[in-house]
Amino acid sequence: MSKDTLTITDNRTGKTYELPIENGTVRAIDFRQIKVSDDDFGMMVYDPAFTNTAATKSSITYIDGDAGILRYRGYPIEQLAEQSTFLETAYLLMNGELPTRAELDGFVHAITIHTMVHENVREFIDSFRYDAHPMGIVVSTVAALSTFYPEAKDIQDPEVRKLQAIRLIAKIPTLAAYAYRHRRGLPYVYPDNDLSYAGNLLNMLFRMREVRYEPNPVIEKALDVLFILHADHEQNCSTNAMRSVGSSHVDPYSATAAACAALYGPLHGGANEAVVRMLQEIGSPKNIPAFIDRVKAGDVRLMGFGHRVYKNYDPRASVIKRLAYQVFDEVGQNPLIDTAIELERRALADDYFKERKLYPNVDFYSGLIYQSMGLPMDLFPVLFAIGRMPGWLAQWEEMLRDREQKIARPRQIYLGSDKRDYQPISLRG
Ligand code: ACO
Repeated sequence: MSKDTLTITDNRTGKTYELPIENGTVRAIDFRQIKVSDDDFGMMVYDPAFTNTAATKSSITYIDGDAGILRYRGYPIEQLAEQSTFLETAYLLMNGELPTRAELDGFVHAITIHTMVHENVREFIDSFRYDAHPMGIVVSTVAALSTFYPEAKDIQDPEVRKLQAIRLIAKIPTLAAYAYRHRRGLPYVYPDNDLSYAGNLLNMLFRMREVRYEPNPVIEKALDVLFILHADHEQNCSTNAMRSVGSSHVDPYSATAAACAALYGPLHGGANEAVVRMLQEIGSPKNIPAFIDRVKAGDVRLMGFGHRVYKNYDPRASVIKRLAYQVFDEVGQNPLIDTAIELERRALADDYFKERKLYPNVDFYSGLIYQSMGLPMDLFPVLFAIGRMPGWLAQWEEMLRDREQKIARPRQIYLGSDKRDYQPISLRG
């Protein structure tokens, strides 16, 4: 008769243990009973970079990396990209269900009226060097928000949590735009509450002397879809940072700053910037074979390719590729697109990439769209952070409500020196 258990025999002692299996998983703590002697600490599992460790149960995002499936709360990403809006998707991620009309209107209103930031935040941004990377500014100012809302420390109060979540979603575009305008030496543009979420971001980024900024509807829509595609991706590096730092019960601004910092790295949200730099370096389709040889020799990585969980085409990359052409129809073709398409074609036909199941990820085409919208490369990870905000917040909320969660604290295997006595510096060689 089949049983939902795992039987382990420890060949050091000959003892047998039976561990329960739940959801195709065994609990790492069950291994602790496996000991060679009474004073043995007990067995641990070793999993650098969590390649095979589930750190939480979650009901938010489902990914089947082999089949190239991504769903938020059960809804396929393709349907949400086609039919939803970013704020509706944000509501879905944070509340578990799609909103009614009244719920959506209330949510959009709440976000819209929280877009302003305290004037001290503006002055804080002013104090950065003229050429400061906008992501560095955003990481710091998101953290600084905790000093403006000290009540945010009360993370046990669901209403307090809800208000901070609304503030974070509402204010991150304002911080992003201020960071961009600071870099350009342009005056800051205050939020316009009559515009959509994406339309207002475009207003704060690009408005010059117009009395009223009218966003281009194609670009406004494309930006909204890009935010939907980035809104959550289960236990990725930045979400893990959000959960891990949040598990100390720090306020959500500090935890979100940690998530932004994790996203900044070139292996995560910084990859879209790295892709455009790579395409510029390749220069033209004729240089692709030589570039691919360098990738295969291990000299460089093909940025925007490969993923820890997708071993198939990233479903977000397919949507983004289509979206790119809609934007190019409006603003003109990005000259790097030919190189990108040819690079993808050659890589997908090459055994090196086939054997390792390396496919384009979300970042392969997103940078080209942002660039065509007239946005500088160092703003790309900031745009990713705007999109990912509701996902981070939904995961943070889920973590706080989860009775099984505690402060995140991994174990280690200590391989350093055994006890030794301190020597005064005069006796050291
Ligand atoms: N170019 C060339 N080779 C690659 C690439 C790549 N982009 N990605 C993985 N490989 C190779 C590795 O060298 C390794 O080969 P080996 O088995 O011969 O040693 C094999 O594929 C497995 O790669 P890992 O690094 O073990 O895969 P991991 O899951 O740790 O890394 C990652 C995933 C970080 C995304 C990686 O594929 C990468 O660096 N990609 C480029 C950066 C990028 O696009 N990041 C964005 C990810 S999506 C996101 O964060 C939104």
